[in-house]
Amino acid sequence: MKKTRTMEISDTVFANTYARQPLCLVKGKGATVWDDKGNAYTDFLAGIAVVSLGHSHEGVAKAICEQARTLVHVSNLYYTEPQTLLARWLVEKSFAEQVFLCNSGAEANEAAIKLARIYAKKQGHPERFRVICATGSFHGRTLATLSATGQEKVQKGFEPLVDGFDFVPYNNAKAAADTISPHTAAILVEPLQGEGGIVVPDADYLKKLRALCDEAGILLMLDEVQTGMGRTGKLFCHEHFGITPDVMTLAKALGNGLPIGAMLTTQKAGDALAPGTHATTFGGTPLICAGALAVAKAFDEEGVLENCVSVGSHFKKQLAGLASRHACVEEVKGLGLLLGLKMKKDASSLVDACREKGFLINCVQGHTLRFAPPLNIGIGQVDELIKVLDEVLKEF
Ligand SMILES: Cc1ncc(COP(=O)(O)O)c(C=O)c1O
Repeated sequence: MKKTRTMEISDTVFANTYARQPLCLVKGKGATVWDDKGNAYTDFLAGIAVVSLGHSHEGVAKAICEQARTLVHVSNLYYTEPQTLLARWLVEKSFAEQVFLCNSGAEANEAAIKLARIYAKKQGHPERFRVICATGSFHGRTLATLSATGQEKVQKGFEPLVDGFDFVPYNNAKAAADTISPHTAAILVEPLQGEGGIVVPDADYLKKLRALCDEAGILLMLDEVQTGMGRTGKLFCHEHFGITPDVMTLAKALGNGLPIGAMLTTQKAGDALAPGTHATTFGGTPLICAGALAVAKAFDEEGVLENCVSVGSHFKKQLAGLASRHACVEEVKGLGLLLGLKMKKDASSLVDACREKGFLINCVQGHTLRFAPPLNIGIGQVDELIKVLDEVLKEF
């Protein structure tokens, strides 16, 4: 495809960090986005599991517009109502008693890692600073969060890494148990690995980690940046596994595309922080929180979770049908509307093939097609994608 002028300029003025697809998007509504030539695409990626209510959601748009004309930013030196209401909603809906608002998933995880260290010190254990993480994990691109990420390709070139992270195989509680040392302050895992290839752990994995943390007096911290806010069919993914963590991080879908992250914690752990120990200029501005509050309202009133469960289950059955018809498919994975189709060979060309037929998806780890559409997507749109996948898999 010939590059447009915007694409050519873009290729010259940005730091070389993204391999973009040849598509300049200008507009979105619901699960549909349009490019600058007027072509429509059904968005089965939703900005990488972010735009869970669909593009240009009315309630969110209205809230942002009203707040933009009222009060955008005043800093965290003052109280503001939107952030207060948002934090109260998060506390009411989760295990947590306290919230720290920031701007991204990586920042939320940074806050969690800092909390693990200071909590251990406040508990009288200055020797505890290490965090056990999993191979295949993804926690962000800042220096500490990439150091906590169990993927060499994310870390390579940025050494020396931040000290204090030990890696164990995901979904292996025994390995975690064997790695806990007098220096361990916390375990940090995703309740379902997204970037790692849509990996759902065994039903008792998190329970075993919970027990280990309780026994050792250390924190269980769950990264729900990708899985949180309904993506897997429960508001928070750990609800599938019958446990609660001490700390949980959120971002992505919390603002339906607005930049927001959150670290949620029990009071016991959170009380280790004190004014001046952690902060952010932009975290929790009235503008972003008004948008996120509208997201919360949609979760309360628009049947988002129910749709995710029913369409997700239909989608997964259809993917299983594809697996039975096409020998190139190895496995169907995932929960709710975070689904993966693992292929037996490199699958990145399928992303292009689907885009050319009007569907946006992506591929993780080179082998797994990831589907993370808006949670209010319709069954008809899923069936259209399945039809296209049937066609492209025949030629794969
Ligand atoms: C599980 C998980 N944690 C953290 C991050 C980093 O979030 P952000 O890109 O907002 O910093 C991501 C992003 O994909 C993620 O999937």
